[in-house]
Amino acid sequence: MLVIAYLLGSIPSGVWIGKIFYKMDIREFGSGNTGTTNTFRVLGKKAGFIVLLMDMLKGTLAACQPYLFDVHINVLLIGCAAVIGHVFPIFARFRGGKAVATSAGILLAYSPIFFIVAWIIFLTSLYLSSMVSVASMVGMTLITLLSFCFHDPFLTIIALILTIFVFYRHKGNLKRIRNGNENLVHFGLVYAR
Ligand code: G3P
Repeated sequence: MLVIAYLLGSIPSGVWIGKIFYKMDIREFGSGNTGTTNTFRVLGKKAGFIVLLMDMLKGTLAACQPYLFDVHINVLLIGCAAVIGHVFPIFARFRGGKAVATSAGILLAYSPIFFIVAWIIFLTSLYLSSMVSVASMVGMTLITLLSFCFHDPFLTIIALILTIFVFYRHKGNLKRIRNGNENLVHFGLVYAR
């Protein structure tokens, strides 16, 4: 299941959609990231929504394996293998995304309600900051704090590890935020100013 999860996570949705339908390699444009945000930025809304859906659902599908095979293994643990695949994809020379959409996907497998709460936090942060990177890091941090409500130590540990990982993957973004030149999205208070 871990191997299947890793392979599912390795599907480089943004790279493949870009190459197949737009004849473009998104790694050569925008932030160079292979994830949803850069797909929106480089290829537009339609491709962005498709990649968001694919990157999330590969995490959900990977994490749902214990349900599908009726095995008692923690869905989050299996889901983490998909996140690793998403960040270090075997199908794209180990150069992948920043772990956010696929982490959201495994959260959907764990608790659909928590997944919705996570989206509300993300969209509110995005509205307030106009920066997807800020919304991603704030979202992951608040999810880790809210995980205490579930009284599931495993959830909190995995959320904490993923949050640290997401911050690490956003090193470049953090530098741009400090320098005041992080990419803004056409949405939210900061952009409107
Ligand atoms: O999930 C990635 C997002 O937080 C930042 O993406 O392309 O602006 O570095 P990007």
